[in-house]
Formats: sequence, C-alpha cells, structure tokens
Amino acid sequence: MLIRHFRIADMLVHIGKIINTKMLGKYALPAFNTQDLETTQGIVRAAEKQKAPVIIQTSEGALEYAGIEELAGIIKTEAREARVPIALHQDHCKDFSLIKKLIALGYSSVMIDASHLSYKENVKLTKAVVSYCHKRGVWVQAEIGRLLGSEDWQKVKKGSDLMTDPDEAAKFVAETRVDTLAVAVGSLHGIPVNPKVKKILKTLKEHIDLERLQAIRKKVKIPLVLHGASGVSDQEMRSAIKYGVAIFNIDTDLRVAFSKALRENLKNHMSIYDPRKLLAPATDALQAIAEKKIRLLKANNKINH
Ligand code: G3H
Ligand code: ZN
Repeated sequence: MLIRHFRIADMLVHIGKIINTKMLGKYALPAFNTQDLETTQGIVRAAEKQKAPVIIQTSEGALEYAGIEELAGIIKTEAREARVPIALHQDHCKDFSLIKKLIALGYSSVMIDASHLSYKENVKLTKAVVSYCHKRGVWVQAEIGRLLGSEDWQKVKKGSDLMTDPDEAAKFVAETRVDTLAVAVGSLHGIPVNPKVKKILKTLKEHIDLERLQAIRKKVKIPLVLHGASGVSDQEMRSAIKYGVAIFNIDTDLRVAFSKALRENLKNHMSIYDPRKLLAPATDALQAIAEKKIRLLKANNKINH
C-alpha cells in the first residue's frame, strides 16, 4: 500500500513505520489510551525514557471529553517535541464519518469496531472503511469475536463461544484486507474492581487462551492486537507476543496508577490548590507504569528497528 501518499502530520510517524511483520514473535508495542494532556505527557515521557516507539490512541469517549481537534492537537504537539516515533490511532470507532475527520487530522490508523454486528455486516462495513482508508494510506484494524468488558462477566460465563474462531478470522482478513486484527482470546476490557466479579472471572479462566491464539497465528499472518491488556499477567503477555500479538491495548492500568497517586496527593496535601502540583505526581505514576509495560513488551531500545 502506498504509504508515501499519506500526509504525515508533524513528527508523528505512520503506524507502518513502527509495526511490521519482522517484529512478530520478538517484541510488541503498547497502544496507550489517552484523553488529556497529563496522560499524553506521561506516555511520551515513558517512551522517551525507554527509547521505545509507541502508539497513542483515542477512544470516541476521549474525543468527546476533550474535543476532537483539541486532543489530536495535544498528541501531535507532544509528538513533534518527542525523541521517539509516535503513531496516532483511533480505537474502537463505530462512526465512519468520524473516521474521515480523524484521517484529515493525521491519524495513520483507525479501528472500525463492528464486532457487535453479524459476520456479514461486519465484513461489509469493514470493507467500506478499508477501501476509503487504503486510498489515503491509512491502516485499518477490525475485530472478530467479541471483546467483552469485565462488566459483561455473565456473558463471559458462556466462555469460548464469544472468542475468535481461527478459521473465521482467516476468512475475515482475506475478505476485508484489514492491516491489523483485534482478537478475542480471553482478555477483557477494564479490570474487575467488584470483588465478587473478580472472584468469578478468576475461576472463569480470565486468561489468554494461548492454544486459540496459536491456532489463529497459524492462519492469520497480519499483526494481531490484544485489547483489554490491563489485568493480564506479565507471563501471559510475554506468551502472547510469541504467538504474534504485535500491539497490546492498555488503558485501565494507566488510569488506576494515575487516580491512585492523585488521591494520595490530594489526601496528603490539603493546603495545595495548584492543579499543576496536584496532578504532577499522578502523571509521574502513570509514566512509571507505562515504562514497566514498555519493558514487559520488550519495546524498549527499539527506536531504530
Ligand atoms: O481499547 C482499549 C483497550 O482494550 C483497553 O483495555 O482498559 O483493559 O487496558 P484495558
Ligand atoms: Zn479495546
């Protein structure tokens, strides 16, 4: 696909510059979600400290919260000053018109999230997005199988019938020509905080189904994406890299680190009113967890790969 037609905004790199098939099985990149300045700065500082390329991604909710141009502007400005390559990706998008807007703003990759539709409908919508995006040098991620949130734990009880079927995944990729594929192999969006749900999910094998992932890898050659990576054990993340996961979506782990440090700081410094002083330790805590994830994925010292 002709990446050179893609207009790179500022210092952002095209996702195709940092995600490739050569990395598969060796290391992976984090796709960190952001919704504001502090989170974006924490992610960029972590990537610089670890000399790692990263994907920074926005959800529809984040764009609604911060404003489309505002949030894209923050990320692009931070990328311009960054010393590491940063790709901008739209996560879980259901709105084709929003996808068109984001491409004009410099997103080099978008996820069309149509897994709630029937297989046929998912293929139809994904093909339309792929045709539009590929003409503009933009990569498309789609999802086959159902990526649940921990709040869907009742559905999880049904176990594997919501997970990605290797044959269907291969058929889907051949029919749609997507560039990366989000697979449902046992991870869940979010981390269950309700102890009851936590206990139930543990017994329900809230773990990565590695045999399933291996079977998908045998049939699907494009980079795989693991959503819901917060709460997945380090060991399972490492194993998932072996079976071709190239991108790990991480959001909740960053939020938990940020909010815990912020609460602590607010509690211990009742006389401070300067948001910069209240937020700084939270950004540092987020940066620390982002660095930990970068090292876990072996993405550190990979800026010239
Ligand atoms: O798309 C975003 C990720 O799947 C976030 O999942 O909050 O469990 O890290 P997480
Ligand atoms: Zn996700």
